[in-house]
Amino acid sequence: MPIVTKQSTGERLTDIAAIASALATHGVVYERWDIGKYDPAARPEGTTEQEYVLASFAKEVATISQARGYKAADVIALHPETPNLDVLLAKFDKEHTHSEDEVRFVVSGRGVFAVRGVDGEMYDVEVHPGDLLAVPEGTQHWFTLCDDRHIQCIRLFTDPGGWVASYVNPDGSPVAAN
Ligand SMILES: [Fe+2]
Repeated sequence: MPIVTKQSTGERLTDIAAIASALATHGVVYERWDIGKYDPAARPEGTTEQEYVLASFAKEVATISQARGYKAADVIALHPETPNLDVLLAKFDKEHTHSEDEVRFVVSGRGVFAVRGVDGEMYDVEVHPGDLLAVPEGTQHWFTLCDDRHIQCIRLFTDPGGWVASYVNPDGSPVAAN
């Protein structure tokens, strides 16, 4: 279940319906998918973990992809042994935007998306297995892992080649290149 915390006040939301509705006011999509559909122990021989994760949620992926125009899906995993984990995290833990939605469905582990709302406030959205978050194109945000430094997610893309970060200041102005 997700936890949303307003950074400036520490005010927290833990109720799913309240979270979905609060995030919607900022254009962020929250969905809860049945994580019980994924049983790692039941993976058929000859199927990769990525294939099995995607097959387990094929229906949900197809539904949201049709509704929001996503064209590709993959699975990403970060864990303490991931080579260059700190370098990877440093790319995403500064405020940025993308020219397409950033969509993540958490299969295992957890992480925090900090999203700048339409009111200018930052909201920390801690996501857990079963949580899907779609941060819309152009919405300022950053991402980091929690203390256990592990997350496994399905990612959905409109154009996998175009998914790069544009770094911005809190007011949305571009960060000047050094
Ligand atoms: Fe991002």
